[in-house]
Amino acid sequence: MNFSLTPAQLQVQAQARAFARNRVAPLTREMDEQGEMPLSLIQEMATTGLLGGPMPKEYGGGGWDAVSLALCYEELGRVDSSVRGFMTVHTSLVSQCILQWGTETQKQTYLPQLARGELIGCYCLTEPNAGSDAASMESTAALSGGDGYIINGEKIWITNGGIAHLGIVFANADRSLKHKGICAFLVPTDADGFHREKMPGKELGHRASDHAHIHFENMPVPKTALLGNHGDGFKVAMSALDGGRLGVAAGALGVAQACLDACVDFARTRRQFGQRIGNFEMIQATLADMAADVDATRLLVYRAAWLRDQGEKAARETSIAKLFATEAAVKAANEAVLLHGGRGYSNEYPVERYYRDIKGLQIYEGTAHIQRIVIARELLGRE
Ligand code: CAA
Repeated sequence: MNFSLTPAQLQVQAQARAFARNRVAPLTREMDEQGEMPLSLIQEMATTGLLGGPMPKEYGGGGWDAVSLALCYEELGRVDSSVRGFMTVHTSLVSQCILQWGTETQKQTYLPQLARGELIGCYCLTEPNAGSDAASMESTAALSGGDGYIINGEKIWITNGGIAHLGIVFANADRSLKHKGICAFLVPTDADGFHREKMPGKELGHRASDHAHIHFENMPVPKTALLGNHGDGFKVAMSALDGGRLGVAAGALGVAQACLDACVDFARTRRQFGQRIGNFEMIQATLADMAADVDATRLLVYRAAWLRDQGEKAARETSIAKLFATEAAVKAANEAVLLHGGRGYSNEYPVERYYRDIKGLQIYEGTAHIQRIVIARELLGRE
């Protein structure tokens, strides 16, 4: 067993860490307050080689392995979950999904442009009545005279949906077949009948993320837009989520590490009762528990990524990583706010944002309940 990172992985880690610290960190507070991420930052992520990192070189990517991608998400997540979330949707849910399921023409058409950030991607699965129960989606794809489909329906909470140029859209062509009727389509967001607006309300966290409510109104799509075969859509969606969930787990690892870093720093410098608060055993116990959780999370996240690199099916290990990482990070953020006292309760210190952001990671790309379902089904089998 070898726990060392390779020189190539260390290089990606250093590159992502430098980008997160130098380019993202100075913007986090402003982005959180203004509720958006500058498009110029997305362009920088592309030119730095992050957006296309895991794409093969022939499609304009950096040829990273899954461990490298996890390291990149960890470093971005350590600084800003909205930025990490943007990239996970664009790169893991969209580009990697096209790489796995696309025809050669689709790959050549979209992947280099996605890697260069000329196209932004979004993944349109969730609906008002189909969140955790994704297979019960109500959007329909009706065959239209043999040369294409007409899509009608509605999607909510679509990350990047307001700024994306390309969506992977899931709709059911025959609801009597349940999940076997679902098809996946590659749809330009300027297609006739594609309407989008910002989600109403102000989110608890991830305030710089773009979340859209999308309607499809008699939207025509050609058969060439099918991603995978007719009826493969549910498998396309689930396999993409295997990659996305790993990205969320790695991002949560970054948040947990950021909480630990902030707490160690604060415990060393904050003085009460005539000494640094880190001298108190209750503070030491908090830091030690947090450090143990961060280590365990890191091992689970890297294992799931390593398994992907071995070409193994890692849905169970990915769900374990996402479940454990998000719960550990929720706990770390909770403790971090407490340890910072009054300062932790204001945006003077970033732990307040970690506390608000992390709840989202426990919900999107499959809630903690859904991860437990995936794990339990692997243990018990299906009756
Ligand atoms: N990879 C490939 N295929 C898979 C798979 C995977 N990981 N998981 C399941 N499948 C296949 C199964 O093998 C099965 O195939 P057959 O029909 O050939 O037998 C088929 O899919 C149906 O599987 P299930 O019977 O397990 O399906 P289910 O309806 O019971 O659902 C579930 C399983 C795990 C609960 C699933 O619905 C699920 O993951 N729900 C959560 C949805 C989710 O994560 N939504 C997040 C949306 S994206 C987002 O949040 C952020 C954003 O902005 C993009």
